[in-house]
Amino acid sequence: MHKRRFCLLAACCFLFFKIDAQQSTVDSTDKKVKALLVKMTLEEKIGQLNQYSNDIKVTGPITVYDSKLEDIAKGKVGSMLNVSGAIATREMQKVAMKSRLKIPLLFGLDVIHGYRVTFPIPLAEAASWDMDAIERSARIAATEASASGVHWTFAPMVDIARDPRWGRVMEGAGEDPYLGSLIATARVKGFQGKGLGNLDAVMACAKHFAAYGAAIGGRDYNSVDMSLHTLWQVYLPPFKAAAAAGAATFMNSFNDLNGIPATGNRYLQRDILKGKWGFKGFVVSDWGSVGEMIPHGYAADKYEAAEAAITAGSDMDMESRAYTENLKKLVEDGKVNEALIDDAVYRILYKKFELGLFDDPYRFSDEQREKQVLDKPEHQEAARDMGRKSIVLLKNQHSLLPVSSSVKSIALIGPLVKAEKDMKGFWSIDWGKDERPVSLFEGIKQQAGRIKINFAKGCNINDSSKAGFAEAIKLARSSDLVIIAAGETADMSGEAKSRANIHLPGVQEDLIKAIHATGKPVVVILMAGRPLVFNWTAEHVPSILYTWWLGSQAGNSIADVLFGKYNPSGKLPISFPRSEGQIPVYYNYLNTGRPGPEEEAGGYNTGYIDMPRLPQYVFGHGLSYTTFEYKDLTVSKSQLMTGDAAEISFVLTNTGKVSGEEVAQLYLRDVVAQPIRPVKELKDFQKVFLKPGESKKITFKIDREKLSFYDSELNWIAQPGKFDIYIGSSSKDIRLQGNLYLQQ
Ligand code: BGC
Repeated sequence: MHKRRFCLLAACCFLFFKIDAQQSTVDSTDKKVKALLVKMTLEEKIGQLNQYSNDIKVTGPITVYDSKLEDIAKGKVGSMLNVSGAIATREMQKVAMKSRLKIPLLFGLDVIHGYRVTFPIPLAEAASWDMDAIERSARIAATEASASGVHWTFAPMVDIARDPRWGRVMEGAGEDPYLGSLIATARVKGFQGKGLGNLDAVMACAKHFAAYGAAIGGRDYNSVDMSLHTLWQVYLPPFKAAAAAGAATFMNSFNDLNGIPATGNRYLQRDILKGKWGFKGFVVSDWGSVGEMIPHGYAADKYEAAEAAITAGSDMDMESRAYTENLKKLVEDGKVNEALIDDAVYRILYKKFELGLFDDPYRFSDEQREKQVLDKPEHQEAARDMGRKSIVLLKNQHSLLPVSSSVKSIALIGPLVKAEKDMKGFWSIDWGKDERPVSLFEGIKQQAGRIKINFAKGCNINDSSKAGFAEAIKLARSSDLVIIAAGETADMSGEAKSRANIHLPGVQEDLIKAIHATGKPVVVILMAGRPLVFNWTAEHVPSILYTWWLGSQAGNSIADVLFGKYNPSGKLPISFPRSEGQIPVYYNYLNTGRPGPEEEAGGYNTGYIDMPRLPQYVFGHGLSYTTFEYKDLTVSKSQLMTGDAAEISFVLTNTGKVSGEEVAQLYLRDVVAQPIRPVKELKDFQKVFLKPGESKKITFKIDREKLSFYDSELNWIAQPGKFDIYIGSSSKDIRLQGNLYLQQ
């Protein structure tokens, strides 16, 4: 037989057997789950739907309850959260093994950005626009957590957020549905690795379903009032991507959506997730969110709340105890069909089988492996690399950065120079004193060589004292270069950390002004879990780096960028407003009938009379130590028929003196459509490394799918007509423009 044909045949056979093998695993798991289900009493089934927290770390009101272990032994608990470590999980699992049917517990934990080694906060990682690096970060977190007995992470958070007042912007991927969807996929793949059942894979959990990021006024837990069109177009895509990537679980959310709490929302959980998207995993409630339907005013008591949640498709109750206390009675009263409970239990047991817990309930609780996996130097190295990839160079006049070889002394000023704990950001695992992230001071010291480094704090983060200014000014005067580290504390962003005022806290901007007035060259490093407002700094300070919270290796990552060991390549995944008054502010807005120029205030245009409507820094913005030229745009087919694809190509050249990476971005605008379409939408991008003088042809493929959107009836369609093509270095810095026409 011809060699090529033989290979093709072999490949087909392999695929066939692979699919066949997968199908038979599905069938045999299905049989095992069903066989177990028939043995279970109603109480035991309800137990599987119940999740308790260990008492150590809580984000909501905890029910003090002494008999958790007794409940586990009686089969009344399906999962525990906040239990980790090979020993602790083994001990608790032993208790579950005392239960009649010996159904193992699932151990869940918020492994949000790293486990032992802390990686940058998710919003920072999003600024890397580097899907491989993001997947690797989640992979390492999963490898460490699973070696510590954890089966399940409550991540990724895939909530789109257009409001930086909301403290949880730090936990997501920013404002864009396309970028957010790619990142959701990368994180799910990273956490779940080669698939559940492998010892280094944990179950992912896409949260918070849905629209939690659109809380009115940026106030955590607040209501969400939104058209279904916006829900589908902007807020659901990353969830859809996570489901398609095989996320094992979903978590619903605290907010109500147009008056229906997400936890009791049938449309979201049954119709969309388990219906339209065919999701086979299970849904866990958010912390106490079943019970919180009472203060919402949606249920009179836990009995009604449990009924609403289970009917809507919420499978597991995290910490409300509404299911354990009421489901049995609800079934007896004929309010809840036991088949609904069976379905929820089936979904949960299925995952326990997939994880291999019925073969060996202790397989993830292996002290030996835990010792080997935690603290691996290569994990620290990956965190350092992820850190520098996440940094965004907002401004760099006169190429002040990287630090020039003529600099002999640096004054390090500011309240965050020596900060350690803060470097980890919110939602990091607390290891106590033994885990000390690298501070900026340490990172700089290590790379400064012969440069003299001095330090003055200047002020605290969030008080009004200027007592330290004089010392800081004196130090600045006697140094060649000043680097100021300012920002928030780590716990000013995160859950329940909404701020109405997102300016640089305290007197930090006054300190920057005072230092700038010395006439010395000043670099400002801003650290925060959200976009901050710092207009004076943005206008006057020549160099600004935004470094978010970068985790265990923060100081080293920042020093790599300061000294030019790494050329910054990050791009903002979220707009930075000039004022809270501009919020919500995002690049992909709908045009009005009176758009007017974005950069100008006033006139009978949409906007403000006291400031432009353009944010301070736009989505996609981020500079490099080199420069890039975009030229020679070609569109292979400007007239697209159904089934066609157009190739949009251009040449990107590194025109500067050092190697660097550019994130070349493709935006499209559907010029005339019903309903109307945003002024720009990110449709593709490529992160490209180029040596000085090097050029590369970049090609984006556009097909009908990329031109499609949800119409008013929520049908996914593409409407014929003209599309504007924008290619550039940010959503505003457009370097090439063209057109495309979609034919009927
Ligand atoms: C948060 C979730 C988190 C859960 C468990 C809740 O307060 O909203 O995102 O997974 O607590 O810690």
